[in-house]
Amino acid sequence: MLLPIVQYPDPVLAATAEPIDTITDEIRELAANMAETMYDAPGVGLAANQVGVLKRIVVIDISEERDELLTLINPEVVEASDELCEYEEGCLSLKGLYEKVKRPDEVTVRYMNLDGETREFTATGLLAVCVQHEIDHLNGEVFIDHLSKLKKDRARTKLQKIRRNEQRNA
Ligand code: NI
Repeated sequence: MLLPIVQYPDPVLAATAEPIDTITDEIRELAANMAETMYDAPGVGLAANQVGVLKRIVVIDISEERDELLTLINPEVVEASDELCEYEEGCLSLKGLYEKVKRPDEVTVRYMNLDGETREFTATGLLAVCVQHEIDHLNGEVFIDHLSKLKKDRARTKLQKIRRNEQRNA
């Protein structure tokens, strides 16, 4: 089932999501619906806050073939490199806006899979960016929160313009 994607600055995007204790049918269904919504959008990642659910779950697929779905429950960065990289990020909740954000180049992430097992992986490049971006959502942050106040204000103005143009062309 496709879920409506919440748009910035909806307060649910600024709220902290709650950890998940056990994998229930409800969680499995949420994960499946989130994946369907991400592929449909299309996007490379989606956090539960973005569909209005305050639970710590994200889905990611950065593959070209769109066949490498990662479902991460309670994901956390347990190690991050000192080295940073800058990447132009976008978000399904701030559609049309792209801004450069600096983040650790390499991160190790611990999470629970849909079988309730704890797993870890180390990521660099786009996957590292994406997983940090999605974990931020669970902590009530969006990517423009990483910008200076001046750049963030500009980004918000740009977003308003993008939305006005979209309405005009609709
Ligand atoms: Ni996002």
